[in-house]
Amino acid sequence: MRLKPRGISAVWALVLFALLLSSGPAFGEVTLIYPQDRTLVAGKSVTLYGYTDGEESFQVQVNFLKKIDVESEGFFSVEVPLIPALNVVSVGGETVRLFSLPGAKLDTFVFKTAKEETTFTSFRLHPALEEGCESCHSLEEGDLQIPEDLKETCFSCHEDFTKDDDEEEREFIHGPVAEGECVSCHTPHFSKNPKLLVEYPPGKLCVTCHDDKDPSEVEGTTIHRPVAKLECQRCHSPHASDAEYQLVRKGNSLCLGCHETPHPNHRKASTTKEMTVIPDDFPRDGEENLACIGCHSPHFSENPRLFRIPEVKLCTTCHRL
Ligand code: HEC
Ligand code: HEC
Ligand code: HEC
Ligand code: HEC
Ligand code: HEC
Ligand code: HEC
Ligand code: HEC
Ligand code: HEC
Repeated sequence: MRLKPRGISAVWALVLFALLLSSGPAFGEVTLIYPQDRTLVAGKSVTLYGYTDGEESFQVQVNFLKKIDVESEGFFSVEVPLIPALNVVSVGGETVRLFSLPGAKLDTFVFKTAKEETTFTSFRLHPALEEGCESCHSLEEGDLQIPEDLKETCFSCHEDFTKDDDEEEREFIHGPVAEGECVSCHTPHFSKNPKLLVEYPPGKLCVTCHDDKDPSEVEGTTIHRPVAKLECQRCHSPHASDAEYQLVRKGNSLCLGCHETPHPNHRKASTTKEMTVIPDDFPRDGEENLACIGCHSPHFSENPRLFRIPEVKLCTTCHRL
């Protein structure tokens, strides 16, 4: 029997429909941002966050059985129940594996089967997500708008740390902060690290840009202990401060915070000794004292005791032989 033209188109329509159902792009309108594949969940349910590029109704499938209908007008968040074990959740064209361990305070969990090991990671969500995606994004004809200079966006909820108590702009603002590039250090949505940091500990983050300060690159020299431990933020603010180089305290008080009484007799900026002459341009801390960093480097040095220059040369800057 010969198929009538209408019959053919009906078959094609079915084939096309099946193709649409099975291929990803048809569901491309649904974008899931959290959770991602292999997320560890500490609760009995998880909230899915994402957006659709228009009004859309779609289904969330949990463990192939449970189906939840979602009506989205753009941004959506929907809570789905989980079983306390491995869960497979499908949203639109995307499938993610989640491991639920109610009450667990783990960063990662390794799920072992006879065949393979899968590591699940837990993430800390930015509480801003609860306020809705609209606090940072808008959808224009289905296109997600991402704010560029984030100062205005982020400081709509957070205290503006580039300003002091009198609302005056601080004198020393870290380069990427001044540019509003908060996301070079923080993820806006969720992170496995505290403070939504993209790298942890914070010092590791610092040396991704300031590689000349990376202690692992300067083997063989004297490295200041807090630098060796990548505790850059003990001395520098990551954002802004009233001291040069965004230091957390000004002058010698920065050092004296950790070194109570280092060689107290050797810090005077004046002398009565004939053989001792202090050059006018030697760094000082006020009138009375020599600056610690005039003699010591704060990070590392080729010389013992972090001396800025070889010892003999340093001593003879002031002590004439
Ligand atoms: C606190 C502000 C903020 C909130 C709230 C927020 N976003 Fe974002 N989002 C950003 C920023 C900033 C970027 C750009 C990130 C970058 O450049 O690395 C971004 C990027 C994105 C991207 C691009 C891909 C990616 O992940 O980098 C998507 C998609 C997205 N957001 C969706 C959402 C959805 C959906 C929500 C609500 C569930 C949401 N965002 C909530 C600030 C936010
Ligand atoms: C150079 C990296 C860097 C940049 C750029 C940066 N931050 Fe941070 N931020 C940090 C670090 C590191 C911490 C953690 C400080 C700590 O806990 O010692 C932090 C902490 C925070 C905190 C938490 C403060 C608290 O006490 O809990 C907020 C809020 C924050 N940053 C917002 C921002 C905003 C908004 C911007 C952009 C205007 C920004 N950050 C840019 C590195 C950065
Ligand atoms: C809609 C309000 C809102 C907006 C907009 C917002 N945040 Fe937050 N953010 C919060 C709340 C609430 C907290 C939790 C309380 C706190 O730490 O202040 C938080 C916490 C944080 C923390 C600390 C997280 C932790 O683990 O302690 C960082 C870092 C942060 N936000 C960065 C940003 C950055 C960067 C932006 C801009 C891209 C931003 N926030 C925009 C509401 C917001
Ligand atoms: C995303 C890259 C990036 C990261 C991460 C970063 N910085 Fe910076 N930093 C910069 C840029 C850009 C400047 C501005 C450089 C300039 O003005 O010459 C700067 C400047 C500085 C300065 C002042 C330099 C000067 O000569 O005035 C200090 C100090 C500093 N950063 C410390 C840190 C510390 C501490 C961290 C970690 C908390 C850090 N930075 C993380 C990019 C970064
Ligand atoms: C013990 C305090 C201390 C620690 C810890 C520290 N710094 Fe510094 N840093 C200073 C001081 C003081 C200066 C002032 C300029 C100088 O004397 O070199 C400075 C200057 C800088 C500068 C600008 C001048 C330059 O040499 O390029 C950068 C960038 C910098 N530090 C990055 C870092 C990074 C990254 C870390 C962590 C790996 C770090 N600092 C740890 C005290 C410290
Ligand atoms: C966050 C705390 C901290 C700060 C701030 C700090 N230091 Fe240190 N410093 C240490 C520690 C810890 C050691 C190692 C002590 C030890 O070995 O007994 C050390 C050691 C030293 C040494 C001896 C190094 C050696 O190998 O012989 C010198 C010199 C020194 N610091 C100078 C400074 C100067 C100058 C400043 C200010 C720019 C400063 N420190 C700020 C913690 C700090
Ligand atoms: C004029 C140069 C000079 C200045 C300025 C100076 N130091 Fe020193 N520092 C030395 C010399 C020399 C030594 C080694 C001999 C000694 O211990 O007296 C030393 C040793 C140290 C040590 C190691 C002590 C030990 O027992 O090994 C620390 C810590 C230190 N200085 C911290 C500081 C701090 C903090 C300041 C500022 C308040 C400072 N220095 C200012 C020259 C200086
Ligand atoms: C910035 C100038 C300067 C530099 C550099 C300097 N000194 Fe001194 N030194 C002084 C001053 C000022 C005094 C105090 C003299 C006084 O009592 O009038 C002093 C005192 C001393 C004393 C006797 C008092 C004491 O604290 O024991 C010794 C020893 C000494 N210095 C050794 C050194 C050595 C070793 C170096 C090199 C590592 C050095 N100095 C580098 C300025 C300097």
